[in-house]
Amino acid sequence: MTHKRVAILVSGGGSNMVALVDSMTGDHPARPCLVLSNDPKAGGLVKAAERGVPTAFVDHRPFKGDRAAFEAELMKPLLAAEPDIICLAGFMRVLTAGFVSQWNGRMLNIHPSLLPKYKGLHTHARALEAGDSEHGCTVHEVTAELDDGPILGQARVPVLPGDTPDILAARVLEQEHKLYPAVLRRFAAGDRTPVLLG
Ligand code: GAR
Repeated sequence: MTHKRVAILVSGGGSNMVALVDSMTGDHPARPCLVLSNDPKAGGLVKAAERGVPTAFVDHRPFKGDRAAFEAELMKPLLAAEPDIICLAGFMRVLTAGFVSQWNGRMLNIHPSLLPKYKGLHTHARALEAGDSEHGCTVHEVTAELDDGPILGQARVPVLPGDTPDILAARVLEQEHKLYPAVLRRFAAGDRTPVLLG
């Protein structure tokens, strides 16, 4: 079997990346080919290297907000890795429409809310402020619009009395680690039926 090649983009600790990498064994139709970060110090790079996955970084800071120039550099290790699928996993840079269009239908993202609710940042605090009784996470196909695009899976968690943004984030993150591998497995097999958990 020829495995689908998966590149994973991270900015931080990379716990979702670890869940994805660790899931790609046995009869899984995909294997990791690269973990790429915009931050040379991202903890995810170390964890990927420990798992034998090739790593690279392109520090976004010298580009001083010139997204197109940053993305041109980001494209180099990505193209060299020849991914079939790109997973954004806590990648905290906004990508331009031009970059996204080059990976049309092949790029996934995980977002810590039940989209279309709470696009952008501070999703857990916003769910608490709104008095929501449930919250969760979404994996979706990446399109030019931020945190938009066809939904490939969602996991729901209850909001409980006494929750703080951190407590709620931890409950959601546990589900992210189940949802993203489940969606990737399906997606890599050519199945876009949404995965619904919780
Ligand atoms: C995750 O909660 C992910 O959903 C979120 O960042 C965290 C990364 O954690 N992503 C976004 O907010 C994207 N806008 P991780 O590095 O441990 O996977």
